[in-house]
Amino acid sequence: MSAVAPGFPGIAAGKLATDLDLSHDELRALLALAAEVKAHPAGYQAALAGRYVSVLFEKPSLRTRMTFELAVKQLGGDVVTSIGPIAAREPVKDVARNLERWTQGIVARTYSQATIDDLARWSSVPVVNALSDRFHPCQVLADAQTLVERFGDLKGLTLAFSGDGNNVANSLLLTLTRLGMNVNVATPQGYEPDADVVAQARLFAEASGAAVKITNDPYEAVKGAQAVYTDVWASMGQEEEAAIRQTHFASYQVNAELMSAAAPEAIFLHCLPAKRGQEVTDGVIESAQSAVFDQAENRLHAQKALLLMLLA
Ligand code: CP
Ligand code: NVA
Repeated sequence: MSAVAPGFPGIAAGKLATDLDLSHDELRALLALAAEVKAHPAGYQAALAGRYVSVLFEKPSLRTRMTFELAVKQLGGDVVTSIGPIAAREPVKDVARNLERWTQGIVARTYSQATIDDLARWSSVPVVNALSDRFHPCQVLADAQTLVERFGDLKGLTLAFSGDGNNVANSLLLTLTRLGMNVNVATPQGYEPDADVVAQARLFAEASGAAVKITNDPYEAVKGAQAVYTDVWASMGQEEEAAIRQTHFASYQVNAELMSAAAPEAIFLHCLPAKRGQEVTDGVIESAQSAVFDQAENRLHAQKALLLMLLA
């Protein structure tokens, strides 16, 4: 469990293994701190002085790895990085009990959520999920920051996700419903977000006055939405399914026609990397509605806030 310095709100769970490790109040505090750190980065240059973070990536990354390494360094700390399978030579529980002796936190991108959960279970230092097969909580913190920047209070607004009910869709459901946002997800049959996630998101939505809609019709999902989100049809680890998925997902592409069903002020969101011509057209991602590089920038600021709350 991390000691929290005066001035930074803490995260009671001491980790971000899933979106659920942030309480509603912690989520709001994190978004406020992310905005503050973005506005005044110079004020935080020594906040992690003398602190080291282990960065473990089993899968490729541009945004997540760069922004975590930059975030730690810009906060005055440093990272040690390992690329490749985490448990190739020894069990995860032993990896965790080595890293906790040398570094003050662990950021991990894994194939399986179980690897994140095992790291968190066996290490006494905070563990952050930098994407697993089930969740991508850090992405969605930056997405929430981007939405708040564009719209202010998210209560009563609608985000529509068209495509695969994957890790990003799961995290959007769990985080945005707590901020009062309606979340509509349109997928082909059999590709819906995880049932336990949908059930939890419905409870969050009920409490915040929002609603969750799961449908197979992208137009029904997008109708009147303030944000339209998509992600690749085959995630990392599903490469062998890419060809068949292209046939299953073809009608879920975010193109100008689908965007025209959204609210006139709607923005387009994508976690990136994007496959232009598949889940999104080049025209939409390059359009004035696209906020994808704001999302990418905010990965840095939102993760700085997370690191301050977990490690400072
Ligand atoms: N959005 C995102 O997580 O990108 P990377 O896979 O490049 O880290
Ligand atoms: N769903 C994608 C997100 C990449 C950032 C994947 O897991 O590959």
